[in-house]
Amino acid sequence: MNGSGARDKAAVVTGSTKGIGRAVAEGLLEAGARVAISARNADEVAAAAKELERGYPGRVFARPCDVRREDQVAALFTETERAFGGLDILVNNAGIGLFRNLEEMSLEEWNSVIETNLTGVFLCSRAAIPRMRRKGGGYIFNISSLAGKNAFPSATAYNASKFGLNGMSEALMQEVRYDGIKVSYLMPGSVATHFGGNAPGPDDEWKIRPRDIARIVLDLLNQDPRTLPSAVEIRPSRPPRKG
Ligand SMILES: NC(=O)c1ccc[n+]([C@@H]2O[C@H](COP(=O)([O-])OP(=O)(O)OC[C@H]3O[C@@H](n4cnc5c(N)ncnc54)[C@H](OP(=O)(O)O)[C@@H]3O)[C@@H](O)[C@H]2O)c1
Repeated sequence: MNGSGARDKAAVVTGSTKGIGRAVAEGLLEAGARVAISARNADEVAAAAKELERGYPGRVFARPCDVRREDQVAALFTETERAFGGLDILVNNAGIGLFRNLEEMSLEEWNSVIETNLTGVFLCSRAAIPRMRRKGGGYIFNISSLAGKNAFPSATAYNASKFGLNGMSEALMQEVRYDGIKVSYLMPGSVATHFGGNAPGPDDEWKIRPRDIARIVLDLLNQDPRTLPSAVEIRPSRPPRKG
């Protein structure tokens, strides 16, 4: 994987113990970045850190963080900045899928989707921006979804969170572009991960691989400073035919 745009950069990837976040963290490390990994499950954070540290000694920082919690987000960014001496890249990846018709959804379930997929991005971006400004620029990647522009039944909360994330990404891009901070949002279709309680298996052959999303993040980091591909749609090239 190439990605000289990541070399020696300091990155935070949220939700990086598995799936897309883990692959993006690995891709950034492979390209020469230092990466802070995090998720809610402390044991999984410690296990992922141990594995990654073996391949990339001295370039991994790890801390459990629930992106819904302002205090935990503040601690993640303060400690990452202390460990790496700054922050250049934020990958807002942590996200959940909860698919249920609206009338059957509890307020708690609705809130968990919105708070993770939308408020978490707000909290992490707000913590990252002043730190990126201090470095003279940076790059924020928001892992959205094709569900950010295509609605479907049972996805009221998920659609609301990802449609919202797309709008938020475009507004933020316009707020920070003159500070040398780029914002891109990626909209993958089905990716073979644990998302929504899925277990990747043989039936997932047609799906996008997490490392393919990582490659796109690295490609974007390698773009010329004058150029910003602000939104990227990523589809499985041969999904099962419908009907
Ligand atoms: N898989 C797909 O088909 C697909 C398609 C389009 C977009 N996406 C998006 O891609 C992103 C990553 O999903 P994935 O498919 O890689 O799912 P995944 O395999 O389930 O991984 C999700 C990661 O996020 C973490 N996470 C969940 N809630 C969190 C919270 N409140 N705070 C911090 N970390 C949290 C999880 O760890 P803990 O549970 O320990 O916190 C885990 O590390 C999501 O934003 C999702 O919406 C996925």
